[in-house]
Amino acid sequence: MSSDRPRWLSLPELRARRSYKWRAYPADVLPTFVAEMDVTLAEPVTRVLQEALAAGDTGYATPDPELAAAVASFHLAHFGWQLEPAGVRLIPDVMTGVTEVLRSAIPPGSGVVVNTPVYPPFFAHIGSAGCRVVEAPLTRSGAGYALDLDALEAAFAAGASAYLLCNPHNPTGLVLTVVELRRVAELAERFQVLVLADEIHAPLTLVGSRHVPYLSLPEAHAHGIAFVSASKGWNVPGLKCAQLVTAAAPMRDLAARLPEELGYGAGNLGVIASIAAYRDGGPWLDDLLVLIDRNRRLLADLLADRLPTVGYVPPRGTYLAWLDCSELGLPEEPARVFLERGRVALRPGPDVGTLGRGWVRATIATAPEILTEIVERMRAAVG
Ligand SMILES: Cc1ncc(COP(=O)(O)O)c(C=O)c1O
Repeated sequence: MSSDRPRWLSLPELRARRSYKWRAYPADVLPTFVAEMDVTLAEPVTRVLQEALAAGDTGYATPDPELAAAVASFHLAHFGWQLEPAGVRLIPDVMTGVTEVLRSAIPPGSGVVVNTPVYPPFFAHIGSAGCRVVEAPLTRSGAGYALDLDALEAAFAAGASAYLLCNPHNPTGLVLTVVELRRVAELAERFQVLVLADEIHAPLTLVGSRHVPYLSLPEAHAHGIAFVSASKGWNVPGLKCAQLVTAAAPMRDLAARLPEELGYGAGNLGVIASIAAYRDGGPWLDDLLVLIDRNRRLLADLLADRLPTVGYVPPRGTYLAWLDCSELGLPEEPARVFLERGRVALRPGPDVGTLGRGWVRATIATAPEILTEIVERMRAAVG
């Protein structure tokens, strides 16, 4: 571990936060419903933010060549993806970028494929872009979830215009292999489908798995756009900075046609923090991944001991745990029971689509004691 180590915060420290996670519920509720981490920031990030504040550097953001260079060097070092800085565009956040690309690139009413169960806001954002959600559900086995390439092909063949690929996948923690991604690219080429690769969780790919950026495959360049960000990996989503990446001419042209105001919502502190995270935050991230790995195993032990009928396959990427509570035989949606009887706020499964009925999602990027308390409260609620 490096000297700049991530440290999980205590409950009193967390309760002092003003972020959504800590303000959405009354103080007797333990929140684990949203993808925020209960961790100290990486020192290089804190340092540049403090310098910016000391200098009053709180004006508007501008596309910064240093950001594009930092995005490129991080992705090359971590995933072997040689992206061109010229193909990086500043956006405020991933979902705004996705919405704007859909709005600009495909006609209203077009079908956009998603792999359900999937990150809930995908549904609303596809709708607000004037498009239609087409579900190609993941398949499920005891070993966890997998991409159903036949379902994907059927959705493409039925006329979908775009595919919003989520890799690593929220909420299942699935990390796709290079073989699967090659097949996706082949299908997208064959059916002329635009692929929007949401790779916001890429830095959080856990030990034992390897993240393959979609655009690291040359065969994806003509139809693929990637969305990357330091916001999840370094826990700075409130600072508003993400990046859209394109690799070749048709997609570059599409990116160039996006409205100029798309970048206006980005935050200057987000740009500053993201440059530092990508450039100097690697050692901190490595240590964080060790802590998350411990927690995904701790959760398995806790559930086996306290709630053995809850189904859990540890995530391969992300700090999310997707829990099958259907065997608990609860009279109503588990998240409601856990909240009302256990005072613990999990993300309700049905938010991710109908396949989520009976499931909940928890965030495991927290202190082991808090993770233990979450499971204790869940058990108290059903016991
Ligand atoms: C898969 C996925 N995409 C997008 C987002 C939202 O990202 P942003 O805040 O950059 O829109 C999240 C947030 O948790 C996510 O999990």
